[in-house]
Amino acid sequence: MDVAGLATANPVWVGSSELTMTLDGLLACIDAGAGAVVAKSVNESAAARRQLDIADYAFVSWDGRVRPPGAARPGDGLLNRSGLAQVDLDHWLGTLATAVARGAPRDCPVLGSITLGDPAAAARIGRAMAAVVPAVELNIGAPHGREARAVRQLTEVDGVGEAVRTVRDAVDVPLFVKLPGQASDVVALARAARSAGADAVGLVGRYPGFLPDLDGGAVLGSWGAWSSPGCLPMSLYWVSKAFSALDVPLVGTNGARSAADVLRFLASGARAVEVVTALWVGGPAVIGAMVAGVAKYLAGRDFDEFVGSAVAGTREYAEVSPLPAPAWLPYTARWTSSGR
Ligand SMILES: Cc1cc2nc3c(=O)[nH]c(=O)nc-3n(C[C@H](O)[C@H](O)[C@H](O)COP(=O)(O)O)c2cc1C
Repeated sequence: MDVAGLATANPVWVGSSELTMTLDGLLACIDAGAGAVVAKSVNESAAARRQLDIADYAFVSWDGRVRPPGAARPGDGLLNRSGLAQVDLDHWLGTLATAVARGAPRDCPVLGSITLGDPAAAARIGRAMAAVVPAVELNIGAPHGREARAVRQLTEVDGVGEAVRTVRDAVDVPLFVKLPGQASDVVALARAARSAGADAVGLVGRYPGFLPDLDGGAVLGSWGAWSSPGCLPMSLYWVSKAFSALDVPLVGTNGARSAADVLRFLASGARAVEVVTALWVGGPAVIGAMVAGVAKYLAGRDFDEFVGSAVAGTREYAEVSPLPAPAWLPYTARWTSSGR
């Protein structure tokens, strides 16, 4: 299979995070069988790198309790602060080149990643990266954008078009653009990214989050970025809408915790899925389990036909016929009998 011309062994990709910030981390993801690995983002800003010094991570149960260190469970949410890789670019390009060489024979491309600060600087970094990686991912949806000014979350069509065009002109390998889910019309942002030359679009970045600690104050003592299994349908909303409206390869992210979730992304229109939080909880073994589960389900099915298959029969509200009995009736009956 391929995504925007990039040969990939399978659709379970590892997304950018601190887990892919070192050579060991990159190689562990490749060796665990990922279909592709996105390296931790860099950009030109010293302030964005300094943010990593205040990074903090809280795993949160479904009912809002912060887990003690080391006690995260598969269904937990993650509220975190983090910053960009504290690396010298030349050294980082060497690291990426080593990882690319390890992944290539296994059809596991290693993508370089830039989280947008200044577009012209992103173009310079992208040009240098393109000499060593088969594709570059440009993240313009950083959920920390409002807190950490050195990274940006673009939510307007004009800004997206301008930033993507600037980087596109400098990068001569496929350009993947990762968008925020926090915009009134994410499909319009995807269209703008495509028109400006994106070869594939990533949907969607995490959301900003805030969680009071009932012992006082706020978890992390600050705002943060939030990922959780509950984000899945919100991500799939935009993946399925973009699949319906646009002709561009889509990469899903935000909310996949299992092989079944990866398949849900594919059925909504994604050709691959970037997974991160599940690996923070379960380690690299999660990759193998997801790859095996997805392969088992897809055996004997045509991959291209499966991609977006859930969208075909999906209707606008106006096209849904009235149901024989109102669906709210049983709920009201239960409420009136127990409430009086
Ligand atoms: C701790 C952490 C650090 C991350 N750092 C980056 C980053 O540097 N660049 C980027 O594009 N995405 C980054 N992400 C976002 C992930 O790549 C991914 O899109 C997101 O976590 C949603 O997927 P998930 O639900 O599988 O976690 C980070 C996520 C986490 C949890």
